[in-house]
Amino acid sequence: MTVHTLGIIMNGVTGRMGTNQHLVRSILAIRNQGGIALPDGDVIMPDPVLVGRQEHKLKALADTYGVERWSTDLDACLADPHNTIYFDSQSTLLRAESIRKAIAAGKHIYCEKPTAASLEESLELASLARASGIKNGVVQDKLFLPGLLKLKRLVDSGFFGRILSVRMEFGYWVFEGDWQPGQRPSWNYRKEEGGGIIVDMFAHWRYVLDNLFGEVRAVSCLGATHIPVRVDEQGAPYRCTADDAAYATFTLEGGIVVQANSSWTVRVDRDDLLTIQVDGTEGSAVAGLRSCKAQHRVMTPKPVWNPDVPNPFNFTEQWQEVPDNQPFDNGFKVQWELFLKHVVTGSPFPWDLLEGAKGTQLAELGLQSWNERRWVDVPELKL
Ligand SMILES: NC(=O)c1ccc[n+]([C@@H]2O[C@H](COP(=O)([O-])OP(=O)(O)OC[C@H]3O[C@@H](n4cnc5c(N)ncnc54)[C@H](O)[C@@H]3O)[C@@H](O)[C@H]2O)c1
Repeated sequence: MTVHTLGIIMNGVTGRMGTNQHLVRSILAIRNQGGIALPDGDVIMPDPVLVGRQEHKLKALADTYGVERWSTDLDACLADPHNTIYFDSQSTLLRAESIRKAIAAGKHIYCEKPTAASLEESLELASLARASGIKNGVVQDKLFLPGLLKLKRLVDSGFFGRILSVRMEFGYWVFEGDWQPGQRPSWNYRKEEGGGIIVDMFAHWRYVLDNLFGEVRAVSCLGATHIPVRVDEQGAPYRCTADDAAYATFTLEGGIVVQANSSWTVRVDRDDLLTIQVDGTEGSAVAGLRSCKAQHRVMTPKPVWNPDVPNPFNFTEQWQEVPDNQPFDNGFKVQWELFLKHVVTGSPFPWDLLEGAKGTQLAELGLQSWNERRWVDVPELKL
């Protein structure tokens, strides 16, 4: 048995996503389970080095989780041949520059979405990666959520017949920061720092729609900055320059119509923070993060519009839970395992920097649609 030890530079790991999802729930969880077993009996063992700007934060993080390696010197980490992978979960605007350096140093790249703030930069990273022949991947975590995996199972089974439409409701109330701290970093609400719900969420919607239902062909989007002033982590009020809600319609190949509401300014009256309803000729389904319920055409009730009598139906009881039928692990960890296997064995990993660039493309076209108050086509993206 060979143990393939992979040195992984983890940059931006003191952040919300970096610490919780990537370090603790993914890399450390993989280490704690004894690595990733390969079919031939070999094992992949990730060996992270925590990288950032602030020594005290890195040291505290390393001490808390018993990680031996940490550094404030990215260049030194890139120069160390033991580190073969560069991972980036810095705030979005910082990502491209560090990835360029890491590609130049010959490291494989794995990073958070959006890969960059502009399509031009996202494409540049994808082509640099392709030219240098390194392996590369982008986080597309929603694809690995149990609810969406069940939805994909229904799509693959032909359950829906012809899919007509998809309704996505995403969001929750993000506190303004005055009388209760906001639960998202303040840069999310500043355009000049890479913030905005369109840049953030359309990167997700692109791969969710492309992978589950068909490629996105056109977008119509209305954004809004509903809350003009918020209070930051230091208690100082700041002007919000980025959109905090987006009301979009997409059309997909095959004519499927998608309505997607994304909002940090909505109070939740639904089963989950993200719900996706799919209606098809043979059946419908509603997926949340973990669960998915379905209604086949033969089980569909026949309501009649009559406001003169109380509604006789309990609509929410008319759905059946789609069973788990398999164990579900953390979605970020599942994708990390696939990427690390891809690096060591060359197994398929389709979610590369070009796929990531498609997310940036949709965000950019969504913003264009909003600015120009019109539908915008989504051209095919090639390197
Ligand atoms: N996949 C997902 O579901 C998901 C969810 C949220 C955020 N994200 C993405 O993850 C990234 C990080 O988001 P977050 O919510 O963890 O943000 P965060 O603000 O908590 O973390 C950002 C990280 O970048 C570092 N950083 C900030 N300014 C820096 C600077 N000037 N120089 C060097 N480092 C700096 C911070 O120290 C921190 O480690 C963003 O690109 C965001 O779009 C992805």
